[in-house]
Amino acid sequence: MAEKVYRASTTAPVNIAVVKYWGKRDAKLNLPTNSSLSVTLSQSDLRTLTTASCSAAYPAADGDSLLLNGEPSDVSGARTQACFRELRARRAALETADVSLPKLSTMPLRIVSENNFPTAAGLASSAAGFAALVRAIADLYELPASPAELSLIARQGSGSACRSLFGGYVAWRMGDAADGSDSVADQVAEAAHWPDMRALILVVSAAKKGVSSTSGMQQTVATSGLFQERIARVVPQHMAAMEKAIRERDFAAFAEVTMRDSNSFHATCADTYPPIFYMNDVSRAAIRAVEQINAAAGRTVAAYTFDAGPNAVIYYLEKDAEAVVGTLYHVLGAAVDGWKDAVVKGLKPTVTLDEAVAGLLKSGVSRVILTGVGEGPAKTDEHLVAEDGTPVTARR
Ligand code: DP6
Repeated sequence: MAEKVYRASTTAPVNIAVVKYWGKRDAKLNLPTNSSLSVTLSQSDLRTLTTASCSAAYPAADGDSLLLNGEPSDVSGARTQACFRELRARRAALETADVSLPKLSTMPLRIVSENNFPTAAGLASSAAGFAALVRAIADLYELPASPAELSLIARQGSGSACRSLFGGYVAWRMGDAADGSDSVADQVAEAAHWPDMRALILVVSAAKKGVSSTSGMQQTVATSGLFQERIARVVPQHMAAMEKAIRERDFAAFAEVTMRDSNSFHATCADTYPPIFYMNDVSRAAIRAVEQINAAAGRTVAAYTFDAGPNAVIYYLEKDAEAVVGTLYHVLGAAVDGWKDAVVKGLKPTVTLDEAVAGLLKSGVSRVILTGVGEGPAKTDEHLVAEDGTPVTARR
């Protein structure tokens, strides 16, 4: 092939909110009804790797394409199109200003993307996915865009994706401009600010596929009275308290706001008409387990949070690994996948959980993920598109 294939590859992290985004005030621009705040998880355990490529040799008739975990994925949706359009427009502006630049904006895009975690885990991969997609294309186009500017674009792909453009502790400021120009993410603290923060994910299999976050939040906005209280009073309080807790590395305060905000979000789901239930009996057993662990410790050593599904994410500090991880490892046993020897070795259970709670966890937790706080997207030379433009499979 004579025509050059241009490529750029990026990895991007998953983030788990401790103050939840739930509700859109503008579905087209994907503008939220409230600000939110999340923790970026380590890419060693959870990440999306994406290569963006373009070439004049790619048949124009094929258009833009995306291969996701080995399967062709539809790019005609309004959200993906919005990301492509915004990025192309910025590249086209550069090409107009400097006519010596290759006209990448006119070439079809061929994008290949893979997650390093099983899709079956039911972990929100749209955040890492859109963050990686936007960053990879921005790098391909050599755009001089900051992570904050890219967060404006990723937000249009999936709201929570705007927070995956940064590492550490990240706020998405809702903004008030009608065009969304101030609805942008910023970093509250770097990952290194609180080095002992850890996350333990209990992967709970759902009996059937739940309501998607996009449609669930629309139903909540339209029907829940409690939701009005949440966006007017609860979230603003939680945002302020959470930023203070992070600044001061106050785990007890961090944990209380995290748990209260998860409870508040799921309460608005229950108040949606008809109601939406994301948590199941196993999720509720995880809440009880955290309460029993905290009660036995005599202080708050663990905090649970749940997104739009039954998985529990439990935040804790490294120094309390014995109480938190030791107890759950003892209950779930080595048969459950995902324990890391380096973490669980020598940990003794310090808390005996209720039999009913332990039984539910044993029956419903299919795997665990032990991870920590991590960095934002990173450029890599591990390309998923070969020099001749053909897709390659990632090393998993
Ligand atoms: C419960 O970002 O998936 O995880 O903007 O419609 O793509 P869309 O929604 P999405 O919603 C995430 C909701 C949440 C809370 C959060 O991550 O803040």
